[in-house]
This record gives sequence, structure tokens and C-alpha cells, in this order.
Amino acid sequence: MSQMQNIQWFPGHMTKTKRHIQASLKLVDAVAEIIDARIPISSSNPDLARLIEHKPRVILLNKSDMANQTATKMWIDYFENKGITAIAVDCKSGRGLNKFAPAVSKVMSERINRLKAKGMVNPTIRVMIVGIPNVGKSSFINKIAKQNRAKVEDRPGVTRGNQWYTIASNLEMLDTPGVLWPKFDDKIVGEHLAFTGAVKDQILDIELLAVRLLDFLKGLKPAGFIERFKLDGVELDSIDSYELLQLIGKKRGMLISGGEINTERAAIMLLDEFRSAKLGRITVEMPNGVMK
Ligand code: G4P
Repeated sequence: MSQMQNIQWFPGHMTKTKRHIQASLKLVDAVAEIIDARIPISSSNPDLARLIEHKPRVILLNKSDMANQTATKMWIDYFENKGITAIAVDCKSGRGLNKFAPAVSKVMSERINRLKAKGMVNPTIRVMIVGIPNVGKSSFINKIAKQNRAKVEDRPGVTRGNQWYTIASNLEMLDTPGVLWPKFDDKIVGEHLAFTGAVKDQILDIELLAVRLLDFLKGLKPAGFIERFKLDGVELDSIDSYELLQLIGKKRGMLISGGEINTERAAIMLLDEFRSAKLGRITVEMPNGVMK
């Protein structure tokens, strides 16, 4: 999994990405970071707070349709206790997107009041979307853009080509997201990103990854997982994860000549079903570190 950093984020790429974000940040008043509701820690960016300095931030827990609802509520409370506004969204169905503009207005209220006190009538607030690859940035922007067709004209003087969507009265969103990098030097982060499919499978050992996912699922024992693979009666606390992978492959009839089990196919199938929430709505990371 250490190869991930070499493939996705070579230094030149990262410098360019950082420069792009820094340039865009100059144009906005607030930042909305999209993270994956199933892995809020691993899908967030370690340097964002420093990059945005004092700009207000909203967190969007995306893909909430695939995350455990109780866990998502706990995350929202967790962020709220830290003074950060977070909302749950699902960019596939559009659920929760109506909470976006009010959330941005909330975090900007102090600044808006200050500008009004200075005599400014209806000050416009600008926001940009940031997040690591595959977290749903384009999906979010496309959904919001469809709901709010009006595009704002290019502004004279400031970086030509930037497009803004008016998403509420006096609230505009930059049409291109800022791409962030994950904490790729952490093995657990790499694994969690791989569980959800945020990292390409070609660069990973798929069977090892499936075994790590089974290590997690064995502990959590989600009902959807047990039902789907008919694991009632299997001692999940004592079975070895590779044996469990073999068992799952066997139950699905994934055999190769000689009666051996095709564990590679079983691994691909398991990850595929986890990623598409066929095993249920499962959150991997909890605010207190463990999912119960
Ligand atoms: P990015 O710009 O941050 O790189 O991410 P993008 O919007 O391209 O989304 C990455 C994948 O995640 C897409 O799936 C997208 O449909 C899916 N996605 C985004 N938001 C949500 C969500 O809230 N819920 C669910 N279930 N999926 C979401 P894909 O497989 O790459 O494409 P496709 O399946 O849409 O064809």
C-alpha cells in the first residue's frame, strides 16, 4: 500500500495541486470540505486547516446513503462540539443538499454582520468545494448546479475563466473543486481508502485487502454481512480472516480446478459488495475510534 503515494501523488503533482488551491482560496470567503461519511478521518486532508487559515469551513459528510445513520449523527455531533458545522449529504440522490446554503450562511454570519455594519448592502459570500479524489466533489457541484441553473458572469479583473453558481441569494460557489491529497503515509488510512474504493485496486494486493476488511467486519458483525454470506453459526471471533475469505468463496461456488477456492475472485466480490453497500450501511471510522 506504500506504492499509493508514488502513483497518485508524486511531488510535482502535489505542488501544482497546492498552488491551484491556494490561488482559488484567494477568491473565496469560505470552504466546504467533502469527506466520506464512512471514513471521515481517512478521507479528510491533514493540511487543510493550515491552508485555509482563518476562513470558515463547512464539512459535508458525503455518501451518507452508504454510511450507518447513527454513526453519521455521532460524527455531526463530534464536529459540532469542536465548533465545526457539518452536514450529511448524498450526492447520488441529492438528499441533504438543501442544508448546504444555510450551513454556509451560518458559518459566515459573523462576517456578513460585520460587512453590513460597515454599510455594505447584501454582501455576496463565495465558497469553494475541496476534497480528496473520488469523494464526490464533481457529483456535488453537478447536483447543485442543476438545482441552480444561473451561472454568474466572469468577473472583470479576477482570474479569467472562473465560473460561479449562484446557489442562494448572495451566495456563490466556484464551479471547479480543489483536489486535496490524503494522509498517504499512514497504513490504516491507506487501507480504509482502499476499502471504499478511493484508491485504485491495480496498485494493491486485493486478497490482502479483503483479509483486512474481514478483520474489521468480523469485529463489527453487521447483520447485512452475516445474512448475505450466510455466516450464521460461524464463530466470527475465532475464525482466521483468510479462512473466512475461503469460506465466503466456497459459499459462492468460486472454485478452481481441483476443488480449490478462488480466493482472488472472492476478494474482488467481497470488496465490490462492501463498496456498493450490499452488505448494508457500514461506517468504518467512529469519532471514538471504534464502531460498536
Ligand atoms: P470526485 O469529483 O471527488 O473525484 O468524485 P466524483 O463526484 O467523481 O464521485 C466519485 C464516485 O462516487 C462516483 O461513482 C459517484 O457517482 C460516487 N458518489 C458521489 N457521491 C455519492 C453519494 O453521495 N453516494 C453514493 N452512493 N455515491 C456517490 P463512480 O462509480 O465513479 O461513477 P458512477 O457510479 O456515478 O458512474
